[in-house]
Amino acid sequence: MNKIGIIGAMELEVDTLKARMSVTARTTRAGMEFFEGTLGGVPVVIVRCGIGKVNAAICVQILADLFQVTHVINTGVAGSLNAALDIGDIVISRDVIHHDMDVRVFGYPLGQVPQLDTLAFPGDETLIRLAMDSCEEANPGLHTAVGRIVSGDQFISDKEIKNRLITEFHADCTEMEGAAIAHAAYLNGLPFVIIRAISDKADDSAEMDYPAFEREAAGHCARLVEVLVKKI
Ligand code: ADE
Repeated sequence: MNKIGIIGAMELEVDTLKARMSVTARTTRAGMEFFEGTLGGVPVVIVRCGIGKVNAAICVQILADLFQVTHVINTGVAGSLNAALDIGDIVISRDVIHHDMDVRVFGYPLGQVPQLDTLAFPGDETLIRLAMDSCEEANPGLHTAVGRIVSGDQFISDKEIKNRLITEFHADCTEMEGAAIAHAAYLNGLPFVIIRAISDKADDSAEMDYPAFEREAAGHCARLVEVLVKKI
């Protein structure tokens, strides 16, 4: 039987889904509150992990060990690295890379975790397809792309850094948890998908745009996730 772990970094990324689920148990671990129950009749565990890659990785490990989830979905917002992706649009992870992992001095490509057999963590193909199918149903007419997500412990709000991420990784958007979630899911053999809506352009306008658009963008993802869990 499937049990789906749904992670958001911030409360506004999970509050709508939590309000719509039927909760049977609440458990606190590592300062995170895990809400167990059903969403649209499907067994889920919904949790706010907090910001950044360490929180995100710890959260996945708890979902794997304590709750034995079968799938991991990360919902939230991101900064666009692709001129074709505007505020509100959605990116579904084809793959995910740590943009701040740099061991090039020992011959590893930028982003590669030493001694791991992959540079980019691939999203689960079935989850990607189902997420694409869900999007039109959840957010009719919204532009949705399957693309590369890069993550680091940095809010990107500088055009030069943005351009470097585009040149080095050919990425479509950037955020602060996806690669850690993907990495931890990969190590645990769990299928995952990262679903992010664009809240800003990751450049000098990000500081203004992010607070203005984060709730609206997060809502696009939450609607998609609610439809998606029923298709898994
Ligand atoms: N999440 C949303 N926008 C972001 C940005 N510009 N950088 C990192 N994480 C983000």
